[in-house]
Amino acid sequence: MHVVPGLKVLYFGTPVVLISSRNEDGTTNLAPMSSAWWLDQSCMLGLGSSGQTTANLLRERECVLNLPSASMVDAVDRIALTTGKSTVPPLKVQQGYRYEPAKFALAGLTEQASDLVGPPRAAECPIQLECRVVAVHPLASAAKVNAFEVEVLRAHVEEDLVIPGTHYVDPLRWDPLIMKFTEFFGGGQNVHSSRLAEGWDMPHQLSRVGTGQTGNALLSQADPVQVADELDSLSRFEAARESDLGTR
Ligand SMILES: Cc1cc2nc3c(=O)[nH]c(=O)nc-3n(C[C@H](O)[C@H](O)[C@H](O)COP(=O)(O)O)c2cc1C
Repeated sequence: MHVVPGLKVLYFGTPVVLISSRNEDGTTNLAPMSSAWWLDQSCMLGLGSSGQTTANLLRERECVLNLPSASMVDAVDRIALTTGKSTVPPLKVQQGYRYEPAKFALAGLTEQASDLVGPPRAAECPIQLECRVVAVHPLASAAKVNAFEVEVLRAHVEEDLVIPGTHYVDPLRWDPLIMKFTEFFGGGQNVHSSRLAEGWDMPHQLSRVGTGQTGNALLSQADPVQVADELDSLSRFEAARESDLGTR
C-alpha cells in the first residue's frame, strides 16, 4: 500500500562531492554538496546561490570535484554547517552555520596542485575531477538555486580503484560516501552522525546497521565531548519526532 506523506525532502541518496574553488583573494574554498548527476564527461551541480562556491564558480568558471570514500565521512562532517562566505546568510545562521575561511585545514585534508585548473585537489580523495563551468541554468521552480553544468577536463583516480588494463573504475572497490535524507551512508549502512541533519532538525532515529547497536550505544564508547554534543542532537531528533507524531 502506498501513502502520500507530503514529503518535505527528496534526497533519496547521492554521492557526496567536495568542491574546491578559488576565492577572490586567491585562497581556496572547499564545500560538501550532493545534488550532482553525471552524463558522459559532464556533471550537473545543484547549488544554492547564497554559498561562497556559487560566487566562486560564477567568477572563476572552474573547480575540482573531489569524491570522498565512505571512510572519509569524518572530514566531510567537520566542514558541514560552515561557509566560506564571510557574511553568513540569516537562514544559515539559524541552521547553525558559521564562517570558516580555512575549510581544507578544518577537514584535515591536504591541498594538491591541479594540472589544468586553478583550484587545488583534495589529495586524500580517491577520485578528483578537474572541471570548467560551461553553463549556468537557474532552476525555474526553485528560486535561488542554480544548476552548474561542468565539463570534466581531467579525472584523477586512485590506482587501486581502476580495473587493471582498462579505463574503468571497479564498482566493487569504489565505496562512495552517500548523503541520504541529510544522513551519511556507505555500503548501505549509516556510517556517522550528521551535523547537516542537526541543522535541518531531521526527525531520524538511526541505528548503525550491522553492529546491532543504536546510535546511543555507539556514542558511549566515543570521546566524551563528542558524546555530549551528539546526545544533545539525538534528544533533539527525538523531540522533533515526538512533536511530529503529535501533529499527525
Ligand atoms: C553532505 C552535504 C551535502 C550537501 N549538499 C548540498 C547541495 O547539493 N547543494 C547545496 O547548495 N548545498 C549542499 N550542502 C550545503 C552546503 O555545504 C552549504 O551550502 C555550504 O554553505 C556551502 O559552502 P560555501 O558557502 O563555502 O560554498 C550540503 C552539505 C552537506 C554536509
